[in-house]
Amino acid sequence: MSESRILYEIRNASKNYGSVVALDGASLTVRAGEVIGLVGDNGAGKSTLVKVLSGAHQPDSGEIFLDGELRRWKSPHDALEAGIETLYQDSGLAPHLSVSSNVFLGREVMRPGILGKLGFLAQKTMDVQAHADLERVGIAVPASNRPVAQLSGGQRQAVAIGRAVAWARKVIILDEPTNHLGARQAGEVLEVIKAAKAKGLGVIFISHTLPHVLAVTDRVVVLRLGKIVRDAPTSEFTVDSLLGTITGLITSP
Ligand SMILES: Nc1ncnc2c1ncn2[C@@H]1O[C@H](COP(=O)(O)OP(=O)(O)OP(=O)(O)O)[C@@H](O)[C@H]1O
Ligand SMILES: [Mg+2]
Repeated sequence: MSESRILYEIRNASKNYGSVVALDGASLTVRAGEVIGLVGDNGAGKSTLVKVLSGAHQPDSGEIFLDGELRRWKSPHDALEAGIETLYQDSGLAPHLSVSSNVFLGREVMRPGILGKLGFLAQKTMDVQAHADLERVGIAVPASNRPVAQLSGGQRQAVAIGRAVAWARKVIILDEPTNHLGARQAGEVLEVIKAAKAKGLGVIFISHTLPHVLAVTDRVVVLRLGKIVRDAPTSEFTVDSLLGTITGLITSP
């Protein structure tokens, strides 16, 4: 793993919300085909780091590099354009839209219209393509022209993850993607993470379910009170030692 190139990197990122120090000099690297587990207690700063990496929030200080190039995201759109897909914690889909419309949300395929560039939505093309995209990443959903409102919570989550993996070109960030999922659906998400890794994507996986983290990651990064307190190969952890590191009961490797 160590010989693959660094895809995405954040150096010394800090972020305050008023008097709350949410991130305090955090640094993280993700290599191509590497799955990073980002763990920490509630309020440790995981989602804040995700928002900085995805362009949703600007850090107060710190630098971001993609493929070794210094980048500054002004919005999530900038990061998306650069190949970074993020599934935010509790991010929803648009329930009134179909599965395929959600997969293509903001990237709709147009058919050229009589008046040239105005065009129409190529709905059929998107239905077929969305189904194929989801299937390719190992997600079986009922008819992709069905409204998302008719899917179960787990199926919706699967669509959101499938969308992110289907579009990601470089890095995919999943903030607690297995929350509210049953055992089988959570297992499917872990399979999708492995598929993303096999595609050569860099993956950042956030979860409080430590056995899941140990099962699919190559490296684990532990955040406590906005600081990274440990960054080590997954093989160096057990569930107990990881828990101890998260809570601060274990302070050295
Ligand atoms: N928009 C905000 N305004 C003010 N404070 C915030 C905001 N977002 C997060 N915080 C604070 O920043 C700290 C880090 O929060 P963050 O959401 O990053 O934690 P987390 O590690 O993702 O926690 P969880 O496991 O509960 O999702 C917390 O103290 C939180 O209360
Ligand atoms: Mg969070």
